[in-house]
Amino acid sequence: MAIEVQPAYFRCLYNLKFQPSSIKNNYKWIRQNLLERVVNLRVLIDWKNDVFLFKKIIAVGLAQILLFTATMGFAQGNPVAGREKSQLCQGCHGEFGISTTPLIPKLAGQYRQYIEKQIRNYQAGTRSHQIMNQAAATVSEDDLPDIAAYFERQHRMEGDGSDDNSVGKNIFLRGEATKLVFACVNCHGIKGKGLHPNISMFPVIGGQHSDYIRKQLIDFRSGFRTNSPNGIMNTIAQYLTDAEIDALADYVSKQ
Ligand code: HEC
Ligand code: HEC
Repeated sequence: MAIEVQPAYFRCLYNLKFQPSSIKNNYKWIRQNLLERVVNLRVLIDWKNDVFLFKKIIAVGLAQILLFTATMGFAQGNPVAGREKSQLCQGCHGEFGISTTPLIPKLAGQYRQYIEKQIRNYQAGTRSHQIMNQAAATVSEDDLPDIAAYFERQHRMEGDGSDDNSVGKNIFLRGEATKLVFACVNCHGIKGKGLHPNISMFPVIGGQHSDYIRKQLIDFRSGFRTNSPNGIMNTIAQYLTDAEIDALADYVSKQ
């Protein structure tokens, strides 16, 4: 499956090479990011046969996520209006989206589409949290894009810059091929800062509170949180031990 996908990537890159400069910049981005990923995948494929099955799950998952992103319509949103409309939210998430409470996530610089999706999931009950289910219920369809745009516009969340957790860093960058854990960097980007605004389904996690990251990974692993597209994060988290989750939360939060 993965190997069949690869020529398509290269064809796509080849075609893009002969487009006007605006698309060429895109080409540069795609080459830097996707090629890295393809190489990464090939390393995994060489590992052992089991990985084939895992690769297939991931490839199907990714295709679905990208399709999902492409087909979802998002209104632009007005960040100035959003500042006013997000007073309630700011009470917990901080005036500029930098919450100071470990289990309340930072929203500063988070992709607006991701914020919107989470609010819709809390409204629909496909993501559960007593407080957020209630808070989300107060948000109207009209206000949501403005509120999301306000938080996205803030100076992006960041940690203290140290990255000394070698266990966490290693899983983040290379994954754990023996246990079929796919490297986080493939989807969450370098230092967890996201891939690209056009691929906004993969949230920014670099610089997020470590306690919050730990809780989400535990919730994905236990199946309490099931709202990631195609259950992709459940698949990944189920192979992580407590110690690995701690190490990842520590590494990611410092970025
Ligand atoms: C009383 C405190 C409180 C209020 C008010 C509140 N939140 Fe939250 N919010 C939380 C907590 C706690 C979580 C983590 C929930 C979880 O673990 O699922 C959260 C999670 C979220 C998330 C998920 C973030 C992520 O990274 O996945 C979003 C988005 C969000 N809140 C947006 C909002 C918006 C928009 C408002 C205003 C309408 C709001 N919140 C009001 C406490 C609050
Ligand atoms: C194949 C893509 C993919 C890989 C690889 C991946 N993730 Fe994710 N991750 C996602 C997606 C998609 C979401 C958003 C889920 C949603 O829409 O609710 C997510 C969400 C998360 C969240 C919740 C963020 C929040 O603000 O609530 C955390 C934490 C996370 N991932 C950590 C990791 C870690 C750590 C790894 C590596 C062990 C990893 N992810 C690997 C796709 C991926």
